[in-house]
Amino acid sequence: MCGIVGAASGRDVTPILIDGLKRLEYRGYDSAGLAVIDKKCDLVLRRSVGRVASLESICDSVDGSTGIAHTRWATHGKPAEHNAHPHISSQTIAVVHNGIIENHQELREELKEKEFTFRSETDTEVIVHQIDWHTQQGLDLLNAVQITISELSGAYGLGVVSKKEPGVVIAARNGSPLLIGLGEKENFIASDMSALIPVSQKYMVMEDGDIAKITPSSVEVFDRQGNPVERQVIISTLSDDETELEGYAHFMKKEIHEQTRAITETLEDRLGSKSVIEMAFGDEAQEIFDRAKELKIIACGTSYYAASVARYWFEEFGIKCDVEIASEYRYRKHVVNEGTLFMTISQSGETLDTMAALEMAKTLGYSNTLCICNVPESSLVRASDLTIFTHAGREIGVASTKAFTTQLVTLLMVAICLRRRKVGNGRAGDAMEAEIVKELRSLPQMIDNVIDLEEDIISMSKHFGNKEHALFLGRGAHYPIAMEGALKLKEISYIHAEAYAAGELKHGPLALIDEDMPVVAVAPNDELLEKLKSNLEEVRARGGKLFVFADSQAGLISDEETMVLNVAPVNNYIAPVLYVVPLQLLAYHVALIKGTDIDKPRNLAKSVTVE
Ligand code: M6R
Repeated sequence: MCGIVGAASGRDVTPILIDGLKRLEYRGYDSAGLAVIDKKCDLVLRRSVGRVASLESICDSVDGSTGIAHTRWATHGKPAEHNAHPHISSQTIAVVHNGIIENHQELREELKEKEFTFRSETDTEVIVHQIDWHTQQGLDLLNAVQITISELSGAYGLGVVSKKEPGVVIAARNGSPLLIGLGEKENFIASDMSALIPVSQKYMVMEDGDIAKITPSSVEVFDRQGNPVERQVIISTLSDDETELEGYAHFMKKEIHEQTRAITETLEDRLGSKSVIEMAFGDEAQEIFDRAKELKIIACGTSYYAASVARYWFEEFGIKCDVEIASEYRYRKHVVNEGTLFMTISQSGETLDTMAALEMAKTLGYSNTLCICNVPESSLVRASDLTIFTHAGREIGVASTKAFTTQLVTLLMVAICLRRRKVGNGRAGDAMEAEIVKELRSLPQMIDNVIDLEEDIISMSKHFGNKEHALFLGRGAHYPIAMEGALKLKEISYIHAEAYAAGELKHGPLALIDEDMPVVAVAPNDELLEKLKSNLEEVRARGGKLFVFADSQAGLISDEETMVLNVAPVNNYIAPVLYVVPLQLLAYHVALIKGTDIDKPRNLAKSVTVE
């Protein structure tokens, strides 16, 4: 989390830094700050709590050609001006930092003994004082940063400037992404390339252990051992096209409505008339799928729920599939069966836990690594043997919507490819594959039909505005859909929402049921419908209020205790992709009633790049 942007130029960099921070604000928005070396070679610092707009309002008079800036997602120390980055030492050196320094306590004690004064509760402040200490011993900025990072344990992406070396930005990376953007007589650093869209189309990716010295006319990169290294120059494909609200009140609403297009584009060129076109996943896909006898899928948050839905598909098709949260996977011992494909799923491709799990998996003997990702220029993509892209387009709302449904359709296509190997049809599809492909093709239209239920969902949402808790129920592949619905509601409306597999209700949560605990259920017309109906009766019998999204042929009808919204009949494999959409809309409209900051909910960030 947190976002870094920095610039060494011949012109005033303040507007570049502010614009870059606005583009990075999705990474964290507790506070923001910048430090610029001005024309008199003074270090000018501006920091403020809240959004980048409030920082911008105090930067009018700031003018200098070298600077660093940061938007923060608090880890150590509450969101407050004194904890905002940059942190400075001796009014001379400034540092911005993404990541977490694990030995900061011990360094803090040592630095206090050297009479450095600490003004924040952050782990970052030790870095700037440590660099200052080394420059006081006679080192230049590059060497002082080099020695300092050798003394740090933990993860960092760093930007450093000193008023004693105007025109120089030092960058360092270990475990927290950092890029160098190349411009005309100016160069930049950023935690992701979207920050630099207006000023640079070319960039280099720093590798772990790298340190770089950037001036307006030069970029030098050194590896962990201090050897000069060349990093590949990449041409960015990012553009500003997708960052407008286009008349919608929130990006989340826009992104829910965009799912029709996003799914169409994710399916495009990958579906033949009756089968999935495996070659569309890349030259290596065929061999990687051939080797995959079983699957291990790792992800976080919404991406984890996509994996959890897909597990039902893979296992239905006879492919063993294990799904785990990345932050847990990283810290366990593993027994890897031969021919296990390691798969990661991530919208951003920058989630630190998922990335660390992948790095660990590479040492464990998996057959290959496959990533399902929405961001081409991301760390996970670079680190995986094969990536299958979701074409959701840029997702800006912190609450993931179109990324989830495009992950699901991508996973279903992968499941179909692996199924062929099980049913012995080689590369050709069979009747069942043809049926799923046909349904996938009609999915965008079905999603549009569900979105047409929005007025009814708005009426339903009114029952949640004054509630503090909600329960979500589903069975089978719709259990993770219930979990995703609960996550959406809690994320943006701040209502405590929990999901249960409906059959588990009687083992405890039924005790919670009363008229103040709305129960949301998804009821597709599948082999578990009758069981689910019994579970819903258990709720009704205890005076619970039910809000059910049900197949129109499921035989569920509204009455005083139950509000049913009908969804058109849909193929069982496709159903989870469809049924999550009304849950997204419900969460959105409840949040709207509660007046929360829907696109940037409190305490969260879009891209989670810390542990
Ligand atoms: O970018 P990723 O898919 O790796 O992100 C994983 C989670 O942080 C993310 O899905 C998070 O749970 C969303 N805010 C959910 O809406």
